[in-house]
Amino acid sequence: MKRLIGNKNALECIKRNAKYWTFKINENLEVEMNIGGQTKLIKPEEVSAQILMKLIQSAENVVCKPIKNIVLTVPAYFDEDQKKATIKAAEIAGLHVLDLISEPSAAAYAYGFDQQRFSDTNLLVFDLGGGTLDVVIVKVKDGIFNVVAIGGDTLLGGRDFDNALMDYFVDIIEKKYEKKITENVKIMQKLLKECINLKHMLTATEDAK
Ligand SMILES: Nc1ncnc2c1ncn2[C@@H]1O[C@H](COP(=O)(O)OP(=O)(O)OP(=O)(O)O)[C@@H](O)[C@H]1O
Ligand SMILES: [Mg+2]
Repeated sequence: MKRLIGNKNALECIKRNAKYWTFKINENLEVEMNIGGQTKLIKPEEVSAQILMKLIQSAENVVCKPIKNIVLTVPAYFDEDQKKATIKAAEIAGLHVLDLISEPSAAAYAYGFDQQRFSDTNLLVFDLGGGTLDVVIVKVKDGIFNVVAIGGDTLLGGRDFDNALMDYFVDIIEKKYEKKITENVKIMQKLLKECINLKHMLTATEDAK
């Protein structure tokens, strides 16, 4: 959803990425959902709103009080439309956005780089996420972060590694069993889960089954 939300090039993104998505999305950028046996069309903003509601619920369980005001993080490369759409998602979730900060700045905060001893430091933040690779230079000055240079690939992330593994195994399975499996959502979902597990294992070991 993050690749689609407020994105002027969303259709191109769908063309490039939809191969192993286990949901359907139409040319008006509406996701087809089966809710209580009925097909409903919902916008990426509404899907993001649901995710935000779930996150807020988890956070509320920890702090034991209601949360209304939030600070959202967005990729450093997000343009105004993408930022607006993200804020809209928060509003649909009934939340008030105090501020938007960039994800690399949030990472720098999380690692304590806002402390005085890091004043006047340049950081290189390398963030290989699920959907995007962001390589960003953040300038720290008196606890304030400024993104001064952005690089990376907005269409490269862990999900592409998953897709590469899927391509590999779908081919083997279809040849071995002489059956097409790509139309079967359940099988594809199961295979995807296995591919992700395999990828995670291969981070720590030379080989995995
Ligand atoms: N041990 C691991 N080895 C390899 N990949 C991993 C490992 N643990 C997590 N990942 C992959 O990292 C990705 C998720 O990363 P992260 O949580 O940073 O993404 P995100 O912030 O949700 O995505 P994005 O920033 O692109 O929106 C997933 O593709 C996941 O499979
Ligand atoms: Mg991320």
